[in-house]
Amino acid sequence: MAANADIGFSTRQVHAGSATAHASPRATPIYLTAGFTFDTLDASAEHFGTGTGFGYTRTGNPTIQAVEERLACLEGGDQAVLVSSGQAAVTVALLALAGAGDHVVVSEHIYEGTRGLLLDNLARLGIETTFVPTGDLAAWRDAITPRTRALFAETLSNARNDVLDIAAVSAIGRERGIPLVVDSTFTTPYLLRPLEHGAAVVVHSASKFLAGQGAVLGGVIVDDGRFDAAASGHLFPHLVQTDRLGGASFAERHGARARGAYIRESAAPRFGPSPSPLNAFLIGQGIETLSLRVERQSQNALAVARWLEQRPEVERVDHVGLESHPDFDLGRRYLTRGTGSVFTVTLRGGLEAARHVVQSVELITHMTHLGDVRSLVLHPQSTSHSARTVEERRRAGVSPGTIRLSIGIEDIDDLLADLEQALVGVPVVERETVVL
Ligand SMILES: Cc1ncc(COP(=O)(O)O)c(C=O)c1O
Repeated sequence: MAANADIGFSTRQVHAGSATAHASPRATPIYLTAGFTFDTLDASAEHFGTGTGFGYTRTGNPTIQAVEERLACLEGGDQAVLVSSGQAAVTVALLALAGAGDHVVVSEHIYEGTRGLLLDNLARLGIETTFVPTGDLAAWRDAITPRTRALFAETLSNARNDVLDIAAVSAIGRERGIPLVVDSTFTTPYLLRPLEHGAAVVVHSASKFLAGQGAVLGGVIVDDGRFDAAASGHLFPHLVQTDRLGGASFAERHGARARGAYIRESAAPRFGPSPSPLNAFLIGQGIETLSLRVERQSQNALAVARWLEQRPEVERVDHVGLESHPDFDLGRRYLTRGTGSVFTVTLRGGLEAARHVVQSVELITHMTHLGDVRSLVLHPQSTSHSARTVEERRRAGVSPGTIRLSIGIEDIDDLLADLEQALVGVPVVERETVVL
């Protein structure tokens, strides 16, 4: 807008100066805008009719799209939808598949936020959950009912580091046309790509390893683009039936991409957990160093786990890279580039030993988060697992002396030195003498 004395101050303050110049930035620009201008009436009608182009950030934004394309490519998926948190990703993925009267089968060892979502929130909407032991394939098969619409599990679980046999569990679902949805937050596409092993949908909390530096929240849903209307259409009428106005169904419009299209066009924008383009930018920046961080974090974590396993104060280390772990062989099959960096350690001295360590670490930060470049520690019994019964905690590998570590990219000697000083004064006692 040219300087013009005839135009009022309030008008000029919102219209003068706008960055429309065409430049070629190498980094992804941050399109921090609620919406986009339409050149013509036909262009706006075309956008509303077909979804092409950009209209409003909740339905599409170039910064967000760049990160979605990057994640779809890294996962070997067909399309990705970025949302505002990992919790939103799990919610949208499940609500895209199940509705009132439906049922999901879920591994019993999952993030507590997801478990609460299933037990408290989705249950209120009429979606029922059956929990099964992660490695019990017969239990997965037996739990399926005619109303089951999804199988759900985490690739590598907190707290016990159980490894999901993705090929086996996804095959059980496929026999009945039911997709396996996998939360791959702990493994990232650098360590494991679940779609290559038969999962249909992958979700992540992008707040963790993908962003990597603990500054933003985000989540992503990646669909494999292999929806088979003939095998699964009867389970998902919202994908194969004509729409509310009698128009073509998702399957007719998108074929094998119908499920991903439904997540992108309907579930995510309607439930509405849109990410900020600024957060999307930071997640995109984080992903550019994902392999370097995760490789280093995995090496550091295994070294810390091996060191802790030798300590007299330690009763047990649940890290899948250790030969002592029950899923060590499964881990070798699925996690060929590294075994992740989040694991638990149980101290012989029980609660007081755990209290002493989390309050004595100096380099390692005491907080609830994981996948950060910095090493973090938390006491699960009193925090993430406090809503579970003693028996559930026992099955999850959480006792009063258990602490969870998320190992970062620091120098390994500094991490070991910090743990060494934090263990000074921790009693070395036999398990039987500890009062639980
Ligand atoms: C495995 C897993 N999935 C999902 C979430 C939820 O992610 P967010 O905190 O980004 O909502 C978390 C959070 O810790 C998690 O650990």
